[in-house]
Amino acid sequence: MDHFRNPRNMGEMKDADAVGEVGNPVCGDLMYIYIKVKEDGITEIIDDISFQTFGCAAAIATSSMITELAKGKTLEEAAKITRGNVADSLDGLPPIKLHCSNLAADGLKDAIKKYREKKKI
Ligand code: FES
Repeated sequence: MDHFRNPRNMGEMKDADAVGEVGNPVCGDLMYIYIKVKEDGITEIIDDISFQTFGCAAAIATSSMITELAKGKTLEEAAKITRGNVADSLDGLPPIKLHCSNLAADGLKDAIKKYREKKKI
C-alpha cells in the first residue's frame, strides 16, 4: 500500500535512453518504464529509472518497487528481476493480483531489450 500511495520514481523521463512499454490486454492497463544507462566501457548500469503506469493499485505498486530494485544494477542483473522478486519485495500480493507484477518485470525487460537494440545500430 505504501508503494501505491507514495510511488517512487514516478513520471516520464524526457531524456531516457530507452522506454519499455507493456500492456495487459485483459484489463487494459498500460505501463512505461524509462531507463537511463551509464556506461564505463565495461559495465552498463541503470543510473536512473522511472515509470508511468495507467492501471490498478498493484500495477502502480509493482512499478514503483521494480524501479527501486533495478536502480544501480547492471543491465544483466536487472534483466534477471522476476515478477516473483517484485511480489516478494512487496511482502506478497493477493493471488488475484499476481498477474499485475508481470507488467513491471516485462516492462523493465522491454526497456533493456530496446536499449540493447539501439546500441547495436
Ligand atoms: Fe491490470 Fe492489475 S488489474 S495490471
